[in-house]
Amino acid sequence: MSATLVHPDGWYPASWRRHPVRQMPAYADGAALRLVEQRLAGAAPVILIDQAARLRTAMARLERGEGFLLQGGDCAESFDDPVAEQVAGIVGLFDAMAARLAPAIDGPLIEVARIAGQFAKPRSAEVECHDGVGLPAYRGDIVNGAAFDACARAADPQRMIRAHMQSVGTAASLAAARGAGSPVLTSHEALLLPYEEALTRRDPVGRWWATSGHLLWIGDRTRQIDGAHVEYLRGIDNVVGVKCGPSMTSDELCRLVETLDPANRPGKLVMIGRFGARRIAEALPPLMRAAEEAGKQLVWAIDPMHGNTSMVGKRKVRRLPDILAEIDAFFAIARAEGVHPGGLHLEMSALDVTECLGGRGPASLDDLERNWLTACDPRLNARQAIDLAGHVAALFA
Ligand code: PEP
Ligand code: CO
Repeated sequence: MSATLVHPDGWYPASWRRHPVRQMPAYADGAALRLVEQRLAGAAPVILIDQAARLRTAMARLERGEGFLLQGGDCAESFDDPVAEQVAGIVGLFDAMAARLAPAIDGPLIEVARIAGQFAKPRSAEVECHDGVGLPAYRGDIVNGAAFDACARAADPQRMIRAHMQSVGTAASLAAARGAGSPVLTSHEALLLPYEEALTRRDPVGRWWATSGHLLWIGDRTRQIDGAHVEYLRGIDNVVGVKCGPSMTSDELCRLVETLDPANRPGKLVMIGRFGARRIAEALPPLMRAAEEAGKQLVWAIDPMHGNTSMVGKRKVRRLPDILAEIDAFFAIARAEGVHPGGLHLEMSALDVTECLGGRGPASLDDLERNWLTACDPRLNARQAIDLAGHVAALFA
């Protein structure tokens, strides 16, 4: 990397490599990994920088209280996904949710899917054990295979090439579905940093952008201030999401926000709370207050999925009443703190899946078996998601 491409503050697309990194797969063949990185560095961007820049403008308005962010899609995409169907489904679902939400909100509805790059998953345990056999955890199709055998679970860098190709196709279909003026935008967790680094590109005025997606977020497990993920994300100009779980302190939030965006640009960062219905009332108000006192120009959104997950046997279980309760609490807290309730972050599918309990979905644990399709966490089905959009619209009435 030549010196002229390094920011005055020491950032460059590979500067994360000097920081401790979590959740990174161990690639056995370093030379194969480097070849893949080189190929991706010359590959087509998944998104247009102009559109990522326009999202920044929309988010700056949102920070002032105009509009609402609807972000949602699969927990994890899969190489087996039928792309055309997938795109038609998610666009149709956004249309149906927008029909409920758009008339209720003041300002534009910003639509961002978890799609065209949502292939890498953080895992709580490095190793998965069955009947005395331990294998590396499945980390998403961009890293390894879900099947429980040693061959599938080995991290394969070639999977990045396949994920990139599928993402380019998905993003193009998404743009074509509605026309470039109003496509549903793309987002994913910026987890697999060799992939992100290779797709980081410069615009004509010298700013760096991730071209792997319009909006990238940092997960609750990789937000350590000195860590590699924070280092990477602080250098790109895209809107950056920050997942905030119950363990986040006010001090951590302020340091994280200061590190990710010292210039305090309005709407550059969207804080995505995911505390759980039982913990939000205690966890969120101090964070909002600390950010407000520090004068930070943040957008606040709620992910009511990840904090409302429990285990029943080997199944992850999420219940619609908990999901709605966390959304209601988010709106009440934001309003009490004088903060605009700026958005919603969901795991949802356009299909009639049976993954979350309640509402127009499965009523019992047994019903979950009927159409459980997710590659990772349980998603709302289309009817549950549309009803939820109606519920949120009523909160704006
Ligand atoms: C996710 O959004 O799929 C995820 C893993 O979230 P979190 O980092 O909030 O746990
Ligand atoms: Co998830």
